[in-house]
Amino acid sequence: MTPVHGFQGQYQIIAPDVILGSNLRLSSFINLYGCTIGDSTTIGAFVEVQRGAIIGNACKVSSHTFICEGVTLEDEVFVGHGVMFINDRYPRATTGEGTPQQASDWTVSKTTVMRGATIGSGAVIMGGITIGSRAMIGAGAVVTKDVPAGFLVVGVPARVVGPTPDAQP
Ligand SMILES: CC(C)(COP(=O)(O)OP(=O)(O)OC[C@H]1O[C@@H](n2cnc3c(N)ncnc32)[C@H](O)[C@@H]1OP(=O)(O)O)[C@@H](O)C(=O)NCCC(=O)NCCS
Repeated sequence: MTPVHGFQGQYQIIAPDVILGSNLRLSSFINLYGCTIGDSTTIGAFVEVQRGAIIGNACKVSSHTFICEGVTLEDEVFVGHGVMFINDRYPRATTGEGTPQQASDWTVSKTTVMRGATIGSGAVIMGGITIGSRAMIGAGAVVTKDVPAGFLVVGVPARVVGPTPDAQP
């Protein structure tokens, strides 16, 4: 693991295979393994980032969020509190024979959140989704389809309501 140059809390589990950038803010009670985190990014308390997830530069990931395998956050992405990413559309604990599933028994659905996008607190992002650059996801939304760049979506399932509130006229 690369040494952290920035703020680092306590009670962290950061696996030796994690690739960390510089000037990070890593809060307490985080669990990181097999992932990559870019420069000047903040990771809030009680966040888990799984193997293969990639988080870019200058991102902010708020507390209690889960970022799973297959997720890429490009630079300057904001993720609110308690956001859940999903990467297995039809999950099962076991195979048809009743034995615990292995990595080879299911397929990861990959999700990309493009540069500068925002995800509101409590949102659920289904697998295989692309959230466009500077798009915004309302709090509590369940995102089931791609979100176009620069647009705001809200609700369950999430629907486009228009350009983001901070869009230039
Ligand atoms: C979606 C959001 C950007 C809309 O903000 P806004 O443009 O100021 O919207 P308004 O508050 O004026 O509400 C406009 C309408 O959308 C509805 N609305 C607002 N937020 C909503 C949400 N998250 N989900 C569903 N509907 C929402 C309002 O009820 C209102 O409906 P109406 O026109 O039928 O009365 C904002 O409410 C939001 O969810 N932001 C995310 C905040 C967040 O999670 N921050 C994380 C860290 S604290």
